[in-house]
Amino acid sequence: MPKHVLIWDLPLRIFHWLFACTVIASWYTSDQDNDLIDVHMKLGYFALGLLVFRILWGFVGTKHSRFSAFFPTATRLRLYIEDLKNNQVKSTAGHNPLGSLMVFLMILLISLQAISGLFINDDVFSSGPYYDSVSKELEQFMFFLHHNVFDFMIAAIVMHLLAIAYYVRVKKQLLIIPMITGKKPENLVKITDKIKHSKIFLAVLLVIAITAFIYWLVVVNAPVIEEYYY
Ligand code: HEM
Ligand code: HEM
Repeated sequence: MPKHVLIWDLPLRIFHWLFACTVIASWYTSDQDNDLIDVHMKLGYFALGLLVFRILWGFVGTKHSRFSAFFPTATRLRLYIEDLKNNQVKSTAGHNPLGSLMVFLMILLISLQAISGLFINDDVFSSGPYYDSVSKELEQFMFFLHHNVFDFMIAAIVMHLLAIAYYVRVKKQLLIIPMITGKKPENLVKITDKIKHSKIFLAVLLVIAITAFIYWLVVVNAPVIEEYYY
């Protein structure tokens, strides 16, 4: 059996699986019929925290988690598409250039969804903490985003899953297990691709700081909303 080397750090893997579960749970709890809108809002704050973590980790995380390692530049995309056409794609240690487009798209769409949630209300009893503290036009725009971005998000997630299935089934690339264990077989990656450790201490510090920031954002700094339901 080939030796395995660490590629995906532990904080990134925890982020990925928590993010996937949070997005699915946010969707489930958004249905007014389930009467779980309060849970939905808490999950939304959690998703915001995860997004802030992922964005910071994209600058200070380990090698393959950094945005600079997989930013889809025109040259990277062109070379990769040529290889794909010539059936010459090799397994990459981190995200491949096409996959990284999808990563940025998902992070962008879910950020729009979570941020817009802070400014909307459901015309019954629930409202985001910043509802009523911006202009009516901005509020309507946020409402529009929250009710429409989700369709694009679903499309992006479906494409994400189809792409993974394609690489695993057709291209015979090992992708899912490394997102769980963090490791890829030594014969598929270069020895220089290996990361030494997961930067756990830094990740814990970030999580503490982000928790404090989200608490400040949605509780301490949030304006008191006038209750005028009757
Ligand atoms: C709502 C559901 C999901 C969302 C929003 C989501 C989102 C993401 C994101 C943002 C990344 C990039 C990781 C990073 O660098 O931050 C990623 C990568 C990945 N996801 Fe998901 N994911 C979802 C579900 C799944 C599921 C169910 C699977 C497994 C079947 C999966 C397998 C993977 C794999 C294997 C990668 C790494 C791809 C590569 O090696 O380039 N994801 N996902
Ligand atoms: C990942 C984050 C989030 C996702 C995926 C998400 C998703 C959704 C979806 C799909 C709906 C139903 C929209 C429709 O019926 O067309 C919804 C409604 C709602 N969301 Fe979110 N949301 C997120 C974050 C938030 C946040 C942070 C808040 C507020 C703090 C929030 C507050 C609400 C409210 C109040 C509704 C009901 C709106 C209405 O019925 O008019 N959401 N959300």
